Amino acid sequence: MRRYVFGQPIETEAVVNKPQVCTDSMTELSVYTDERFPLNFATTLDAEDIVYGLGENVRGINKRGWLYTSHNSDDPNHDEGKHSLYASHNFILISGQRHLGVFFDTPGEVIFDVGYNHYDKLVVSLPEADVEVYVMEGDSDLAVIREFRQIIGKSYRAPKWAFGYGQCRWSYMTSDEVRDVVRNHRENGIPLDMLYLDIDYMDAYKDFTINPATFGDFDALVSEMKEQNIHLVPIIDAGVKKEDGYDFYEEGKKNGYFCKDENGEDFVVGVWPGDCCLPDMLNDEAREWFGNGYKFLLDKGIDGFWNDMNEPALFYSRKHLQEVFDAVGDFARGNLDINRFFQFKDLMSGISNNEEDYASFYHNYKGQKVRHDKVHNLFGYYMTRSASEAFKRLVPDREVLMFSRSSYIGMHRYAGIWQGDNKSWWSHLLMNLKMMPSLNMCGFLYTGADLGGFGDQTTEDLMIRWLSLGIFTPLMRNHSALGTRFQEVYRFDAVEQMKGIIQLRYRLIPYLYQAYEKAINEDTMMFYPLGMVYPEDTTARRIEDQLLVGDDIMIAPIYEQNAAARHVYLPEDMRMLRFRGAELVEECPLSQGHHYIDMPLGEVCIFVRNGHQLQLADIVESVADLDWDNLTFV
Ligand code: NOJ
Repeated sequence: MRRYVFGQPIETEAVVNKPQVCTDSMTELSVYTDERFPLNFATTLDAEDIVYGLGENVRGINKRGWLYTSHNSDDPNHDEGKHSLYASHNFILISGQRHLGVFFDTPGEVIFDVGYNHYDKLVVSLPEADVEVYVMEGDSDLAVIREFRQIIGKSYRAPKWAFGYGQCRWSYMTSDEVRDVVRNHRENGIPLDMLYLDIDYMDAYKDFTINPATFGDFDALVSEMKEQNIHLVPIIDAGVKKEDGYDFYEEGKKNGYFCKDENGEDFVVGVWPGDCCLPDMLNDEAREWFGNGYKFLLDKGIDGFWNDMNEPALFYSRKHLQEVFDAVGDFARGNLDINRFFQFKDLMSGISNNEEDYASFYHNYKGQKVRHDKVHNLFGYYMTRSASEAFKRLVPDREVLMFSRSSYIGMHRYAGIWQGDNKSWWSHLLMNLKMMPSLNMCGFLYTGADLGGFGDQTTEDLMIRWLSLGIFTPLMRNHSALGTRFQEVYRFDAVEQMKGIIQLRYRLIPYLYQAYEKAINEDTMMFYPLGMVYPEDTTARRIEDQLLVGDDIMIAPIYEQNAAARHVYLPEDMRMLRFRGAELVEECPLSQGHHYIDMPLGEVCIFVRNGHQLQLADIVESVADLDWDNLTFV
């Protein structure tokens, strides 16, 4: 492991075990300045090299052939044309003749041209020449990953119950609606451990409040849920409503805990409640204060949270909005020819998440005034860190579920992440699968995507297939957006099939949890691309739609509509277990090589590696009822 320092990098606290700075010049990558960027790193790639990494991002497990940028953004359109999502995970691993890992530690923008302009070249460019670069080489991909993980520290450990099934919706509007959803699961015998509360549980979308009209009996609700082994998991948003008399806001304002504009006034942005201020998550004192806010819900017995809108998402800034209002009148008068029309359109679409806004407010970070855009990618990480540190202070004996939308490497020590606002698209089911190993490399082990898809309308078959993948991901949550079709599984004709698949999840939890713990303890992965486990097998190295889960099993989900079978490649002899719902209905030895396997809706095939075994628990309705000692071994 070699650590190089360029310029004056801003400390991110991503790395906890820093090696000495290497003062020799870098040999593994060429380093240069060009007319576009003050700092570039480049290397040539062999035809068969795979470039792994970049955590949460679009496209494949092998990142070759595209341009990626590190710029955390609230963008719900995760299409192939995008270059970034909600997170910046600046770790890449070149796998081929050499196994070379590189981590670019900077909270600013990084541009990864992974064979995009030239297929045989990797070029990493920085608009600002301040970065710490960690370079590691090893005998295998996994050795490099382990070395990387050892410097960034152990991954967050979620409670066991967080491996149960969770139901979410933007939003369940009243406590009675929550009761109803839970009752429908229980009455249908569908296992459930978590019920998520989206923004409407709050009073006017104010953090750390409860809507008295719709959730007036919140305390009773929490205890009723507890009796049924259901954990209520409320959302927390980054922006704090600017409202005189709202005590949390008043406290933040009085103590100067909000991000400031260039004149030192609180910077005002728009999120769900309208005008908000952004807590200065990077300021130690403000971070402690924001974390203490969770006490309101912890005191009510809550033990799980999800942090949202923490890129941070800005619907608008007051300052820019005023400029827009001033300009709109001109557009209202007169003709909108092609130029004027598109100027008008750009003006409107530029209101949200505007780059100029990100360069218009300031943090107090380690005693320095720092402009937000320089540290942009740290905001979600530090928000979530504030929560996690607060849990340790406030409820040291309680295991708390915590995951965030935005992140940066380092946050993996404090929480998990979900993969943001996907859509009810088959391509996003596949993206969910592909993102798993990329995230694992970067330390994010507790993760999963919105099952069934968040935006757009799901279908029954998509729901079934997505559940059939989701039963393997640590976070297994069904979530959908306001205005979309309701997708709780009991609403579908195929409820029995869906129930069976969720029951299978519970049978798998002991296996999955041990694989998860092992990945934490041994700084390794839970989801492996085949090429990392069978590096000599060139076919295995090219497979992007099958994964090993833990040390013992392989999965090959269906991700296309109306496909009732699929091609599966076995890198070694394996035993195929066919489950119809939760029931094991067939065991069949299969030899190394190519197979075309029937997988009708409602059936899940798991491939057990030669000489390995899979343990299965009995079916239960919640993790609390799992018998971890009496397992069936296959
Ligand atoms: C955006 C989040 O990504 C989504 O999961 C949530 O439902 C909405 N915000 C509303 O809170």
